[in-house]
Amino acid sequence: GQVLSTRKHFIPKPKVKRLPQAIIIGVKKGGTRALLEFLKVHPKVKAAGPEPHFFDNFYSRGFEWYRNQMPNTAEDELTVEKTPRYFVSKEVPGRIYKMNKDIKLIVVVRDPVTRAISDYTQSILKWPKMPPFEEKAFIDNSSCVVNTTWSKLRIGVYAKHLKKWLKYFPLNQIHFVNGEKLISNPVDEMYKVQDFLGLQRLVTDSHFTFKGSWDFPCLKKDIKSDHIHCLRRNKGRQHPNLKPEVLKRLREFYKPFNLKFYQMTGIDFGW
Ligand code: A3P
Repeated sequence: GQVLSTRKHFIPKPKVKRLPQAIIIGVKKGGTRALLEFLKVHPKVKAAGPEPHFFDNFYSRGFEWYRNQMPNTAEDELTVEKTPRYFVSKEVPGRIYKMNKDIKLIVVVRDPVTRAISDYTQSILKWPKMPPFEEKAFIDNSSCVVNTTWSKLRIGVYAKHLKKWLKYFPLNQIHFVNGEKLISNPVDEMYKVQDFLGLQRLVTDSHFTFKGSWDFPCLKKDIKSDHIHCLRRNKGRQHPNLKPEVLKRLREFYKPFNLKFYQMTGIDFGW
């Protein structure tokens, strides 16, 4: 009898699928895949593979469907998903609030000008017949009036989107990852993310390395192995060279919105 009763303590609880406790809500082309890959190195983090798009596209399928998209986890593990479109979808903040008002939200932000060019670069590979960037970005030919309805530019007006989230969530429940620093200093950025998520700092400098002429940090998921994982496919694309006056006009356009965003978050991103 005694043997059996002591053994009982060692029977692990079965792993089950759980709704996420943290969501990477944006932004598209901010470095969201890199962030998720880096986070997944942490032994207590488990993530959904593809982007579930539950709160924007598949909300009618219900929470059980959503839960089924998640990996199996033990009780002390953190379930995470990323769907960058959530940040700019107006129904999403209220829906996430309804699921869990204490959920932790993460947004990777990047200079909205480079973000737009990165987004355009991705689209032109999919739809080669798309008109040149300038033609889409400006209403007139003189490159003066910015077409704010073009999604590639609208996504970068972070202050406007954030306002909708702050109607539901306090600022300290949203963590902002600096997309530029995620490339130049991934270790510090990942320390901040782990602190925010209440995780031990187990993703450290021993997990990052550079390889060959590739400008982005790559992962050494297993410190004991020589294997190096770089996000080469679909990431770190060559951007088209836009005319200086085009870039200048876009910077002018974003300036007030960026300042507003710094004010709202209390962080100067330096764009
Ligand atoms: P570019 O392809 O324009 O360089 P997302 O995953 O949200 O779509 O973001 C893609 C962007 O992540 C890439 O945009 C790249 O700049 C950035 N990124 C950040 N860290 C990276 C890394 N370690 N490896 C590759 N790309 C990274």
